[in-house]
This record gives sequence, C-alpha cells and structure tokens, in this order.
Amino acid sequence: MIAWFRQAGAVIPAGPPCRGARPPATPAGRAAKPGVLFLALVLGLPSVLPGAQPPALPLHAARASALDLALSGLLAGAEPGTTRYVRWADLARLPRTTLRLTAEFAPGEQEVTAVFLADLWAALPVREGADSLLASCADGYAAVYDAAFIRDYRPFLILAINGQGPEKWPPAGLRFNPGPYVISVAAGLVPAVAQLMDAGHKRPWGVTTLEFARLEDRFSAFFGGPWAGAGAVARQGRELWIHSCSSCHRGPGDTFGGTKGERPFELLAAQARHAPDYFRRYITAPKGLVPAAKMEAHPHYTGAQLAALTAFVALGAVPSP
Ligand code: HEC
Repeated sequence: MIAWFRQAGAVIPAGPPCRGARPPATPAGRAAKPGVLFLALVLGLPSVLPGAQPPALPLHAARASALDLALSGLLAGAEPGTTRYVRWADLARLPRTTLRLTAEFAPGEQEVTAVFLADLWAALPVREGADSLLASCADGYAAVYDAAFIRDYRPFLILAINGQGPEKWPPAGLRFNPGPYVISVAAGLVPAVAQLMDAGHKRPWGVTTLEFARLEDRFSAFFGGPWAGAGAVARQGRELWIHSCSSCHRGPGDTFGGTKGERPFELLAAQARHAPDYFRRYITAPKGLVPAAKMEAHPHYTGAQLAALTAFVALGAVPSP
C-alpha cells in the first residue's frame, strides 16, 4: 500500500446505522467522535505460548450452521472454486484477545473477543502465493486486506461482544445484527488506524466468507489489457479502487469486489472518460447530483486522489472517436 492512502485526519465514525449508509471515513477537521477511543486492557491471554504454532483449524466440506465461516481460495486440500467451512467453536480455540472498545458497534463501552486475521492465517493451510484476504458480506459488501495491512494494522475477527457470540446478536443497543462475523481495526491497538483514510472499508460487518488470494490474480483485469501500460497516476487510482471502491463495486469480468454498487464497471468507466467532472463530483457528493443516491460521499478525497481514480477508471472505456 502506498503512503498517501493512509491520509492523516480521517477518523472512524461510530457504528453503522444501516448498510446503505455505510460509515464513511470522516474528512479531516470534521468534529466527529472517533469510534474507537482506547484500548483499556488485553484481558484474554493467548491460549498458546509465545512462539508456539496455533492449533490447526478443522476444515469442513459442508456448512453445519449459519455461524460457520466460509473459506475459499488458495487453501491446500481445497480444489479451486470450492468452499470450506470453519465452526465458530473452533475459531474460539485460536489465540484470542479481549479488547475494551468504545462505541465500536453498540453504544458505549464494550468488551470484544477477537482473533487476529494473522493468527487465523497461521492456523490454516494457506497455499504459497496467497498475499491477501478478501472478505465478502451477506449484503454484497466486500473488504480487501493485503499482507502488509494485516501485519501493520492488525485487523481482527470478532467472535463475541460483551461475552456473547453471534447467536445472541444483535448486541444490546444495536438495531441491526452485525453477524455472523465482523472484522475491525482499533486505534487503541494500533494508533496508525486513526490515520487510515477509509477505515470504514476495513471494518465490514455481516462477513460470511474469507477468500485467500493473490491480489494481482483477483484484480488481474486491472493489471492487463488497457491497464497494462498504466502510468503512475492511474496506478495510484488502482490502489484507491482496490482498497476503497471495490467494497461496493466490481471491476470487469470476475474481478473481486462488492455488488452493492449496482452499476456495471463499464458505465463508471464511460463516465470517467467522457464526463470526468460528473464522475469526480459523484465520488465526493453523490446526493448533490442525484438526491436519491445510495452511494456514500467521499468528501475527504483530495483533488490528486480524484484525478488518480478518474485516470484509472477511464482506462476501462473505449476512447471517443
Ligand atoms: C458503500 C458502497 C459504495 C462505495 C464504497 C462506493 N460506491 Fe460508487 N456506487 C454505489 C452505489 C449503490 C451506486 C449506485 C447509484 C447510487 O445509488 O448512488 C454507485 C454508483 C457509482 C457511480 C455511478 C453514478 C451514476 O451516475 O449512476 C460512480 C461513478 C461510482 N459509484 C464511483 C465510485 C468510486 C470511484 C468509488 C470509490 C471511491 C465508489 N463509487 C465507492 C455504492 C458505493
């Protein structure tokens, strides 16, 4: 990931009211209260000694419960295209950490029982070449975690909130059910999280599936064809697209991405090439153009970032005659 992606000033808003209005990262200077204020304690001791291998997670060919976590992608023993399932109870046997967070999902303070994605990775037979975890949610939202992000920002999978697992969710005070799984990052744990530009995209709820992937394979369309000769600016746009826009939008073909964005990539590309001003304004303030727009606003994007996104997306369109 490139440095400007971690733009200073964005803060994490409190829990999402509904998926349509996904919690946007707030622009610098706005007086929004950071959702995660501090990490009080690490109560839960890892269940293994430091340096010891975490226990291997049993993988099942069939789902036994709606709370099973589906796994796909580059896993030894799983044919390409197949899915394996891990049980909540087996995940709960991995090294766990208990975090005390404020206004993370439910209002007020809460105790969150979590497994770091790095520990989940270590407990699975991940095949060589995999460098990313791709999360998919029940409502068509998605999130991308590359190896550097997993190492530097320590994202974690939430197994319980205030001691209660997803079978008891929604947690008190929350009107929507964030289950079966939530992935999050916490500034109390890793202070740099407070500087993440689009932290909301790394905090998906309703996560049902994790895919182990090689990023350049799952986004291969964006590295070949019209993008093969992408210049530095368009390459920066690609980075932004992968880590933010792909939460709701898919690229061409079977490129990884969420489906909430509804519009085909070809339409976005045509807008970026033929109506770049509209494209940029839609990103920063969609409701200013279309009052009924469901897309979240990105008012914190700089002119350079918008130019990078426009250059990148426009490469997917046929040039005007
Ligand atoms: C939280 C989900 C979400 C995210 C994140 C998101 N979009 Fe969208 N986008 C949508 C939805 C939904 C639509 C369909 C139109 C609407 O309801 O706003 C849309 C439509 C669009 C359109 C078409 C506008 C039109 O005329 O119909 C463009 C262009 C676009 N998005 C660009 C982007 C870019 C670039 C990013 C990344 C910076 C992005 N979107 C991130 C949800 C999202």
